[in-house]
Amino acid sequence: MSEKAWGGRFKEKPEDWVDEFNASIHFDKTLIKQDIEGSIAHAKMLAQQNIIAPKESDDIIAGLERILTDFEDGKVEFDVSLEDIHLNIEHELIKRIGDTGGKLHTGRSRNDQVATDMHLYTKEQVSMIIELITSFQTTIVNVAEQHVDTIMPGYTHLQRAQPISFAHHLLTYYWMLERDKGRFHDSLKRIDISPLGAAALSGTTYPIDRQMTQELLGFSSLYENSMDAVSDRDYIVETLHNISLTMVHLSRFAEEIIFWSSAEANFITLSDAFSTGSSIMPQKKNPDMAELIRGKVGRTAGHLTSMLMTLKGLPLAYNKDMQEDKEGLFDAIHTIKGSLRIFEGMVDSMTINVDHLKETVNNDFSNATELADYLVTKDVPFRTAHEIVGKIVLWCIQNNKYLLDVPLTQYQEAHPSIEDDIYSFLKPENCVSRRISHGSTGQNAVKQQLEIIKTQLH
Ligand code: ARG
Repeated sequence: MSEKAWGGRFKEKPEDWVDEFNASIHFDKTLIKQDIEGSIAHAKMLAQQNIIAPKESDDIIAGLERILTDFEDGKVEFDVSLEDIHLNIEHELIKRIGDTGGKLHTGRSRNDQVATDMHLYTKEQVSMIIELITSFQTTIVNVAEQHVDTIMPGYTHLQRAQPISFAHHLLTYYWMLERDKGRFHDSLKRIDISPLGAAALSGTTYPIDRQMTQELLGFSSLYENSMDAVSDRDYIVETLHNISLTMVHLSRFAEEIIFWSSAEANFITLSDAFSTGSSIMPQKKNPDMAELIRGKVGRTAGHLTSMLMTLKGLPLAYNKDMQEDKEGLFDAIHTIKGSLRIFEGMVDSMTINVDHLKETVNNDFSNATELADYLVTKDVPFRTAHEIVGKIVLWCIQNNKYLLDVPLTQYQEAHPSIEDDIYSFLKPENCVSRRISHGSTGQNAVKQQLEIIKTQLH
């Protein structure tokens, strides 16, 4: 077991199983790159401010750089009794360059160190998530562009409501993701801040230059209050929220994919590459990827709740409870990145069963609103028209027909103003194209929507 960095005032050491419980190295080794980057910036600043000698700073930096390459080559081992990534690296540095390594921690604490690592990490990951969202949006738009004229049933209450353009349906997810992306972008203002130099909680007596480390690390600003710097975990809650809401959106989309690919709907066929089989039923092709994504929102929303509960009632400043911020965030980030990549591949490779969709919309009552609108063009008040159409639909149900099969005589019995042009009026593709309002599903409106989206995307 290694000597504790804080061993001085202790007469006894914790037993191994206590060390095990206390340690975070199992998961905070994820932060090695950020930890070393932060330490290098700090070492440069210490020399610049004459707090350590330039040679000492150079030795520290060279030592840290070597530790990182050795780690990447699998040549660095961590020790649970050294708790976390910060103490493990410091220990490794002192082992390699001797006492000079012990000067690195001058004017800082693990509290501002871990906060710096987490800010750097979250910032980098949020930017990657934004890129993945954009890439998925691009795929959605590409598929949508090919299906402006593909008509499908639009639903409310999961009951056929009105025919819509398939592109219009898909593009709804573009907009949800656009808002998600906006939230991630906005959160960067609160992530991209340097806590380094706050030290344990109260700042430091050394003449450090916080602005220098802020700039070296590429942060846009720095915390103005040292206690806030080490106790703020809002940006983690916010990121978990943004991830969870995006996952909620993906789960809604996933649910549609699952329904669309069922034999009952048969609107799409998923590619084999994004489906799996059954170990017992040879005929099966299951939408496992979509189901997993639908399910995974449970994890991310759980991590969000867990972080909120961890922070509730915490006094200032650093408390060890905060070590609990990492695993949930790492897992949520891993989950959303995987989900976005998989979803994009799934949408890109799915087949849209255009002919079947056409047959579907020709065999339902989703054109009933149109019939009412037709009567309105004949000066029938909408309420009366609604009542008349309701009766016609009832007649159809009793006679096993759809609106396009009703004989003209029957229509005229229902209302004398109905003429022969009703059949073209009721065709699903015409129901869609008559929708001309801004943002509607009409093919022209969808094309305009696509134009707006394409300027936004580029
Ligand atoms: N492993 C700790 C964490 O993740 C680092 C900070 C520890 N600071 C302390 N004073 N014990 O939060």
